[in-house]
Amino acid sequence: MTPGIRPLIAGNWKMNGTLASALRLAEALRSAAMSATPELLVCPPFLHFQPVAAALLGSTIALGGQDCHHAASGAHTGDIAAAMLRDVGASHVILGHSERRSDHGETSAMVRRKCEAALAAGLVPVVCVGETEAERDADQAEAVVARQLLDSLPPGFATAGGIVAYEPVWAIGTGRTPSEAEVAAMHGMIRNTVVQAHGDGGRATRLLYGGSVKPGNAAGLLALPDVDGALVGGASLVAEDFLAIARAVPAG
Ligand code: 13P
Repeated sequence: MTPGIRPLIAGNWKMNGTLASALRLAEALRSAAMSATPELLVCPPFLHFQPVAAALLGSTIALGGQDCHHAASGAHTGDIAAAMLRDVGASHVILGHSERRSDHGETSAMVRRKCEAALAAGLVPVVCVGETEAERDADQAEAVVARQLLDSLPPGFATAGGIVAYEPVWAIGTGRTPSEAEVAAMHGMIRNTVVQAHGDGGRATRLLYGGSVKPGNAAGLLALPDVDGALVGGASLVAEDFLAIARAVPAG
């Protein structure tokens, strides 16, 4: 953790579940969610967003989208604008997830435009970066992530409270994670890069780790310097696991 930064545990539900299962998950989180630290965020599929938002109304759990378009509105069939997300109760939006980068060919330049749109709409962007296994094997992990940061984060990102999620592609959904030393080194590099590019505001930027975070490895990861929370995929679909990860955040 970084002293003075409130930790965030975020759940990326991806393209999973039915409306009924999403509502069951929301109810289970709502009844168990802690009101104090850490902050909790869930990002349901767009179709489930509003029913989940209604189920979480009055709770302390924040809601985010999993993507948005870079334009404010217009002829973009199948897309969702940042202001639409804001309109139905989102406070955050995940951008540049590696699955968007690979499934939809999103480049860092596109992520940057989406990020600008999110900021303009008053959403907090959660920008994902991370290397592939081949890039790590070639000792390129830090260079790849630094490049993604420089190209994806627009001016004003840090002062607006933008969040960075480091998600090594090869750790997503695989049960494998980098060692704690590797995560600490990468997060230190990310902190330095954000501060260099965005000024002192970057010292307060929340840096999340994502990729096979589970109740069993969360405490070790969340205790590392410059790891200010987690972006959780599979384990966020099980209320008990998500809450166990939240409870693994080291006290104060
Ligand atoms: P898993 O936790 O399932 O590895 O997914 C991580 C992720 O991609 C969150 O955005």
